[in-house]
Amino acid sequence: MTRTRVRRGGGPRGSMLFGGGLALGLALVLAVLAERAAAQSGQSNQNNCPAAQDIQPCGCTVKKNGLDILCEATETQHINKAMDALKGRGNVVIFYLKLRHNSLPKLLQFVFLGLDIRHLTIHNSSLAVVEESSLSSVGKKLTQLDLSQNVLTLVPSKALNTLHHLLILNLNHNKISAIHNNAFQGLDTLEILTLYENKIDVVDDGAFEGLGKKLKRLNLGGNGLRKVPQRALATLEVLRKLEMQENELTEIQEGDFEGLRNLDTLNLQHNRLNTVPAKVFSHLKLLNSLELENNQIRFVDPEAFSGLEENLQYLRLGDNKLNDIPSEALRRLHRLRHLDLRVNNITFIPDDAFSGFGDSITFLNLQKNAILVLPGLAFENLNSLETLNLQNNKLEYVSEEVMEPIIDTVTHFDLSDNPLICTCDLSWYHTWYRKAVGMVDEPAAHKRKTMCYLNSERREYNLLALPLQKMHCVGKNLGQVAAAHRISITFEIILSTTVFLTVLRRLNSM
Ligand SMILES: *[C@@H]1O[C@H](CO)[C@@H](O)[C@H](O)[C@H]1NC(C)=O
Ligand SMILES: *[C@@H]1O[C@H](CO)[C@@H](O)[C@H](O)[C@H]1NC(C)=O
Repeated sequence: MTRTRVRRGGGPRGSMLFGGGLALGLALVLAVLAERAAAQSGQSNQNNCPAAQDIQPCGCTVKKNGLDILCEATETQHINKAMDALKGRGNVVIFYLKLRHNSLPKLLQFVFLGLDIRHLTIHNSSLAVVEESSLSSVGKKLTQLDLSQNVLTLVPSKALNTLHHLLILNLNHNKISAIHNNAFQGLDTLEILTLYENKIDVVDDGAFEGLGKKLKRLNLGGNGLRKVPQRALATLEVLRKLEMQENELTEIQEGDFEGLRNLDTLNLQHNRLNTVPAKVFSHLKLLNSLELENNQIRFVDPEAFSGLEENLQYLRLGDNKLNDIPSEALRRLHRLRHLDLRVNNITFIPDDAFSGFGDSITFLNLQKNAILVLPGLAFENLNSLETLNLQNNKLEYVSEEVMEPIIDTVTHFDLSDNPLICTCDLSWYHTWYRKAVGMVDEPAAHKRKTMCYLNSERREYNLLALPLQKMHCVGKNLGQVAAAHRISITFEIILSTTVFLTVLRRLNSM
């Protein structure tokens, strides 16, 4: 296509001999076009792969934006040879250079000199040393660098500091134990930094110097942090997501998150926190999601969530040691949508547990607690509730009164694995189920059956399959319980027929 255009360019250029400014101008324009086309076709030629034998054992495929080179299970010398073959090809774009599962203990100086690499991966390759000038030649174009699953013990700061276009740096699964001052200096465009699963227990105050204007995501999860590296973090003023899960934090305190005023998500899961103290998140005015799951939290200060009033929507407090719903602390969170309190030791839900804040909650998980009783007004404020999980508690009775405020909005409800007793009080469950799940039982959709225990027969029944007369509903006003109504009418007909026949028999025998 481009070639045809080049050839056509020759014709009008000949006609220039016939003179005329217009023709000259036209010819010049066409000449420029032809040159551009030639340059383009030249470049696309170079974006072809080298001959397979020149880069083996590496492989090469042509992608829309450049070459995709993959070298696996090989050694330094073969990789160097493949790089040399690519260097001989002028300005070829290597969109992906992926070196995985190799033996590449040291990245030598100038190894990529003359190559235009956009995404570089050196993964699971025993990389321990990244020499100072090994990456400097790719600094103008490299946007992603993945050095995960290697044996780096320090951030290779000197090699990184020329990567002025880098957006993503992945150092996950290495053996980095400390982040020293200015470790990432020079990476002034970096947006995502992940250091998951290293051995970091020291973060110097100036560790993230230079990243403040651009860094949006930082993952420090899976390390050995014992306290929040407050001073280092304080410079990250545009950070939106901070992950510090799976560390050894025993304490968080007021001021720890100062400076992170754009933070949207904070993950502190799987640490050893036992208290959420007052005002600890008070600087995080934009925080939307807070994950505190899997700690040892017993106490949540009534002021713990101060500052989160306007934006917090997701709060996860599951797998802790709470004995109560921390209502006082929660009351200010009037935008809260998702509250997860699964696997705690909550035994009782007071009438005012959700009063003053529950009306925006759509998801409430109380699974695997020890709740014995639900008082009548427990759920009264949960006007928006869609999902309620009460699975695996100690409930024997759940009255229609307590469910009444939420029965019209809840579409997902789990009451299984409770020691429910089959009584007429549970007949609301049929009504709810038929409305929310449908007339047809869907065993696949409802894996767990909700069982109740019928004292008179000393056996368990699937609550949905239990005939209502066994729940001692006969004679009671069943209201809008449509199906139940039908059963009970049938039952009453049978009953009255029986009575009628008995009377008849008596009359006969007289
Ligand atoms: C890492 O690479 C080695 C080969 O060097 C391979 O045997 C091993 O399975 C790889 N590990 C992972 C997790 O991919
Ligand atoms: C769980 O709560 C009950 C009743 O409040 C209490 O007796 C028990 O010690 C608690 N268990 C734990 C592990 O905190």
